Amino acid sequence: MDIQVTSNAVKNVVCDVLVVGAAHTKTAEGKSKVVLAKSAQRVDGLLNNLLTQISADGEFKGNLGELTTVYTMDKLSARRLIMIGLGNQETLDTQSVRRASAIAVRHAQKTGARSIALALDGDTFGIDKAASAQAMAEGTLLGLYTFRKYRHAGDNADGYEVTKISFIADEAHKAELDTSVKRGCAMAEATNFARDLVNEPPNVLTPTELANRASAMAKQFGLECEVLDRPQMQELGMGGLLGVAQGSAEPPKFIILRYRGAPASTDKGMAFVGKGITFDSGGISLKPAERMHEMKGDMAGAAAVIAAMQAIAALKPATNVTALVPSTENMPSGTAYRPGDILRIMNGKTIEIVNTDAEGRLALADGLSYASREGLSPIVDVATLTGGIVVALGSTMSGAFCNDEQFCNDLIAAGHAAGEKFWPMPLDEEYAEQIKSDIADIKQTGGRGASAVTAAKILENFVGDAKWAHLDVAGTTYVDSPKPYQESGATGFAVRTLAELALRRAK
Ligand code: BES
Ligand code: ZN
Ligand code: ZN
Repeated sequence: MDIQVTSNAVKNVVCDVLVVGAAHTKTAEGKSKVVLAKSAQRVDGLLNNLLTQISADGEFKGNLGELTTVYTMDKLSARRLIMIGLGNQETLDTQSVRRASAIAVRHAQKTGARSIALALDGDTFGIDKAASAQAMAEGTLLGLYTFRKYRHAGDNADGYEVTKISFIADEAHKAELDTSVKRGCAMAEATNFARDLVNEPPNVLTPTELANRASAMAKQFGLECEVLDRPQMQELGMGGLLGVAQGSAEPPKFIILRYRGAPASTDKGMAFVGKGITFDSGGISLKPAERMHEMKGDMAGAAAVIAAMQAIAALKPATNVTALVPSTENMPSGTAYRPGDILRIMNGKTIEIVNTDAEGRLALADGLSYASREGLSPIVDVATLTGGIVVALGSTMSGAFCNDEQFCNDLIAAGHAAGEKFWPMPLDEEYAEQIKSDIADIKQTGGRGASAVTAAKILENFVGDAKWAHLDVAGTTYVDSPKPYQESGATGFAVRTLAELALRRAK
């Protein structure tokens, strides 16, 4: 894909489809009216006020994602024009720009466009120019994402290949826009890398293959990469990860990626820990068949932290970040771990197994212990951990469990900038009652009530005195139905929040 920033006038940009934006607001009399963004106004002038007429007639209202197509009849170098709705002018933010861009380019892609130019101009409505340009680039690349590698070639029944994207800037702001677009592209490309990892079938994306892909990315982007094998895990006493792995024919891997953007600093930096269960059958406590295939996505936390490292390596903030990924399958077999077993985690604590389907917390316990032993702080773990968080928050928001209020606020703010929503969840001490064991330090599960909270309370045992946030992304990383702005399957949720956190820490 050829991506460029151009300071050509909108009139002269050669492309199949030109996308411009428009919002709506209320008149003094309380009637709704469309407001064209700057480039849309220019185009309107060139087209004898066609856009104004379409709006005045009520065919286009400016709602978020609503679109109208017109042919330019050679009055512009663009063959076709899409006017995309940005929603209410008063509440318009970078997320509106991100979504609108995605919807417009998806429509263009489905209707045969190969080259697309965008000039949404969110700054017309008061949002920061740089942030708006970044969001436009992100929305564009996220919207165009497809996962087709296992379909036969030439199958373009639902879309063509877009080969060229131009983002239009006015001459005065070209350099600024260039930087913002680059940042947006790095964020979106990393998000799409995570989506590829999650969408891969579990027979392809084994722990070994996950490690190979992480290591190939590390090589390409200049990160340090280390992969621990079973004997090294045994040496370190990673009884949680090894316990889950013992039922699988696939060897487990513990993946470590290091980014040193502040080599002289005494601050060891942040740690990202990702749940890397490449397939979760439930193990001996087998899951029902119905949606089991979706459990190939149980490594979405791992994908998010690995892909965030790619974005960080591309954007080079002056801070240190380490990603840790305990990875294994969770399978039933004659060698599988059992309900009733007691496992010893790397930090020495023991866990009484109750249900082998609660495997994520065991693998993460070793990952968190490793981060804590290395003196990394804050630690952010990302995990498709519980069905409980899906019941509580659905696919709209992820739960954030934090032991530090300021860090929680920072994280939610980074998420907001990235277009990813997190809702604060409790770690109240009273919930620890539910995970008391008679024969081990901790019981693995806390029963039906507040299952997302008790899972987080278990993880808390392994972070030492680090600042810590646990992100339960079970509902947000994989969607079974398409949205106007994204195809079904992996979403890449949390990648941009993690990368944004690192960028903000460097400031
Ligand atoms: N991987 C699942 C959680 C999950 C559910 C992810 C739905 C994505 C969508 C996790 O390992 C699991 O099975 N959790 C159980 C724990 C229970 C047995 C204590 C759950 O939450 O039901
Ligand atoms: Zn499970
Ligand atoms: Zn799981």
